[in-house]
Amino acid sequence: MINFAHRGFKGKYPENTMLAFKKAIEAGADGIEFDVHLSKDGELVIIHDETLERTTDGEALVCEKTLEQLQKLNASKLYPDCEIQKIPSLREYFEFAKGKEIITNIELKNSIIDYRGIEEKVYELIKEYDIAEKIIISSFNHQSLVRFKNIDPKIKCGVLESSRLYKAWEYVKNLGMEYYHPMNFVVDKEIAEKFAENDIGLNIWFGKADYDYSQYLPLNPSGLITDYPNKVKEFLN
Ligand code: G3P
Ligand code: MG
Repeated sequence: MINFAHRGFKGKYPENTMLAFKKAIEAGADGIEFDVHLSKDGELVIIHDETLERTTDGEALVCEKTLEQLQKLNASKLYPDCEIQKIPSLREYFEFAKGKEIITNIELKNSIIDYRGIEEKVYELIKEYDIAEKIIISSFNHQSLVRFKNIDPKIKCGVLESSRLYKAWEYVKNLGMEYYHPMNFVVDKEIAEKFAENDIGLNIWFGKADYDYSQYLPLNPSGLITDYPNKVKEFLN
């Protein structure tokens, strides 16, 4: 089972920063999940929200600023005691991840703003770094996942959901995706068994920061995406 760190080690460090990714690995994560948007000049950047206000000292939409402008901001606003952190580009992350055994879950954050061409840009960088085997693309924008599959059907994709889809396994199978990424509240043993029968992996993410993640082990998930990879590591040991 893969121990994915949600936005890096979000429980203890500024989310979606290189520090949070490094600390996640130190804490025992063997997977990292993060969110990707496009900057004004078409660069892939790692940040959760469409807007800068919650996690940085900037104001505006991410897509209204160039990469250079974005990287002048401090992304550790939620952790004032922490040293200044930059918004990472996807390229910087790949420089860090290349050669490591880590599985990377790139969430395309394109449900609200459907960034044109984001799938091609992510794909080109995956190819440049020859990292395809260790990537899972996910999104709440399922049309975008289909676009990704149309670019290269070999790239593994996960259907993100926080609602209670009717016969979710049929939906995911019909889309031709390898994984289902449900919020923990919308999945149970019965649903998990249906996914197993259909040979679709289950990477469960947690809609609440702190949780007894171990109670989801009987569902035999392929991965857990949590804010505390250290806690998951502990019970996996
Ligand atoms: O990919 C799982 C999870 O990250 C989805 O929700 O809002 O944390 O990106 P969010
Ligand atoms: Mg995410």
